[in-house]
Amino acid sequence: MWPNDRLINLFDIELPIIQAPMAGSAFSDMVVAVSEAGGLGSLACALLSVEQARRELETIRRKTSRPINVNFFCHQQPRGDPALEMNWRRRLEAYYVQMGLDDSAAVLSSNRVPFDDKMCDLVLEFHPEVVSFHFGLPDKDLLARIRRTGAKIISSATSVDEARWLEDQGCDAIVAQGYEAGGHRGMFLTQSVFTQVGTMALVPQVVDAVRVPVIAAGGIADARGIVAAFALGAAAVQIGTAYLLCPEAQISPIYRQALKEAQDDETAITNVFTGRPARGIANRLMREVGPMCDVAPEFPLAAGAVAPLRAKSEAAGSADFTPLWAGQAVRLNRTLPAAELTKQLAAETLEKFRFLQTRALPDVLAQAAVLATVGR
Ligand SMILES: Cc1cc2nc3c(=O)[nH]c(=O)nc-3n(C[C@H](O)[C@H](O)[C@H](O)COP(=O)(O)O)c2cc1C
Repeated sequence: MWPNDRLINLFDIELPIIQAPMAGSAFSDMVVAVSEAGGLGSLACALLSVEQARRELETIRRKTSRPINVNFFCHQQPRGDPALEMNWRRRLEAYYVQMGLDDSAAVLSSNRVPFDDKMCDLVLEFHPEVVSFHFGLPDKDLLARIRRTGAKIISSATSVDEARWLEDQGCDAIVAQGYEAGGHRGMFLTQSVFTQVGTMALVPQVVDAVRVPVIAAGGIADARGIVAAFALGAAAVQIGTAYLLCPEAQISPIYRQALKEAQDDETAITNVFTGRPARGIANRLMREVGPMCDVAPEFPLAAGAVAPLRAKSEAAGSADFTPLWAGQAVRLNRTLPAAELTKQLAAETLEKFRFLQTRALPDVLAQAAVLATVGR
């Protein structure tokens, strides 16, 4: 049925559609809905405490016995540099003054914690079928502990080098994350955001470079994108932004509104919210301080000084200082429950494949025959 069934077989799922892990936006309801629909639901843990992650996993395991993916960030936690922090606060000072905020309100660190022993214990306890990482992989001991549970391990690559590196470390599949993608870039062997590759160019080059199955991510929002991903050699797609208008997405009304109104040319890659490049709908902070800013402290520390500005402006109904993560295909979003969206995406994609095989193929073969005689 599907032109490439490697991922379906590897993960033991029905549909090669992975709901992207989305820290802060998608929780147990979304995961259960997508996994029950036959796709792979993903729980992002980067913004959850161990206790919160445990509660989400208990709910998920109670409501579905289907395979799930549990996702973690694995950046190096920075020490924090007071001089850089001071520069960053100075850069934001005018906003603090405008909003009548005391800049001692800024918190020094943010709550994005890399994968560690305690989260690893949780993985051992709940045995997710798939464990995925963003920003590379955790250290070898933690990885070995996960591997012993039998979980399939995957991570995001934004270049051929990163994909090869992940395969060398033993990843079972690789998410090729194109430049179009919403949220944080998974880049970990480069800092250069300007040389990041689009999905259309990245996927086939990664497919050629590794032996493990490749999952296409970035700007895929409907059947046309999924068909294209398979044509490029992918064995599955990972879709984030398109799930954000589902009722299961736990996002604020201002974020939801921004997603509904965003146009194709309104997202940009920025580091002003966290210190790492991520794609979101351009807003005031991105336009006036970024989108890329040299004085933003290392990930995730930049978020600390932005937090009070965000809280105050959100309380006044404004998204000026809110990260509005979204990919370049945001205009294609539809408002549907996550299970329905998953099934519709799959059905529409299969219909397109059928069309190509039955209706279009005879025409293509006839054309090819004509071209062959011309060539003689
Ligand atoms: C709101 C949002 C949050 C995200 N958070 C995570 C995350 O926690 N972990 C992760 O591996 N990827 C995260 N991503 C990136 C996705 O895994 C994926 O690469 C991306 O959504 C694909 O592009 P698309 O949004 O155009 O579908 C996030 C993306 C979005 C839109």
